[in-house]
Amino acid sequence: MMNRWRVMKRLIPLLAGMAFLLSACGRDDLSTLKPQGPVAEEQFNLMKLSISIMTLVVVVVFAICIYVLIRFRRRKGDNTIPKQVEGNHKLEIIWTVIPLILLLILGVPTINTVFGLSKDYSKDKDALQVKVTAHQYWWEFEYPEYGIVTAQELVVPTGKKVSFELASADVKHSFWIPSIGGKMDTNTGVTNRMYLEFPKEGIFRGKCAELCGPSHSLMDFKAKAVDQASFDRWVAAMKSPAVVPEDAKIKEAFESKCLSCHAVGETNSGASAPNLTGVGSRETIGGILYNDEKPIEDNLKEWITDPQSVKPGATMPSAKDVGLTDEELDGISKYLANYKIDY
Ligand code: CUA
Repeated sequence: MMNRWRVMKRLIPLLAGMAFLLSACGRDDLSTLKPQGPVAEEQFNLMKLSISIMTLVVVVVFAICIYVLIRFRRRKGDNTIPKQVEGNHKLEIIWTVIPLILLLILGVPTINTVFGLSKDYSKDKDALQVKVTAHQYWWEFEYPEYGIVTAQELVVPTGKKVSFELASADVKHSFWIPSIGGKMDTNTGVTNRMYLEFPKEGIFRGKCAELCGPSHSLMDFKAKAVDQASFDRWVAAMKSPAVVPEDAKIKEAFESKCLSCHAVGETNSGASAPNLTGVGSRETIGGILYNDEKPIEDNLKEWITDPQSVKPGATMPSAKDVGLTDEELDGISKYLANYKIDY
């Protein structure tokens, strides 16, 4: 008894630590257990079904096991050998048929849901088409119907099916918005498809769900679901002429040192880094520095000064690498912080 208690005493902090870690998995919207859309809802229903069946099996098996252990244990002074049983057809049939029935109860809805969720809406005129390209460690969202490209923040209208075409620019990643649905791998050379629905307006946090390098856990993005009118305003704002820095010196520095990889405005041709149109309206900088925790200008400065310290392995060079002066860094951060789009 003493010994067991000692083991328990050691286990308690460990268990508490694990519970703490699990409960502290980031901001509150990153949960498959609080579905915010029909796809996540269906996936959650499958989880509930399988967990209930598994719980039922565990409870019944353990109950029988404990009953047998107690009922048929060897009693004091009893040295007889129990009756030897070789087989029992009735029991064998029962324990073969019950799992078969359970598997059917699990299998039919699972197959149904999996096929239902893999429906292809890429030719559906009522669905919004979005091409997702995963990069180490950021997300690119292209809207081929509108000719616009954005990064890190997927903007979608509510009440419409959104058909995704998923690919990767480098290694394998996985596209996942836990409260809305997913996940789906992104590969190079292959296009995967899936669809999601956003019935409610709101900002939903997305994650990369495939280990892709040192900053895999920082490869976050946002999905912003807005009403159709706001979405139309967003599209129009994204298509309007790009805003450039007013100061000629800052403009020159921005164009020569930033736009060699990034892009602003409608055209994204040749851009290998995130499109920065309206970056001042985004929730985060670099996908992970929250603008509600620190002023956006500070986040921009932190990110541009040394991206490696924020996202190890990021391909973006530091301010020093591209030779940005302090004045240019300030000017560019200020310009980007104020580059907002209303929708
Ligand atoms: Cu991209 Cu993990």
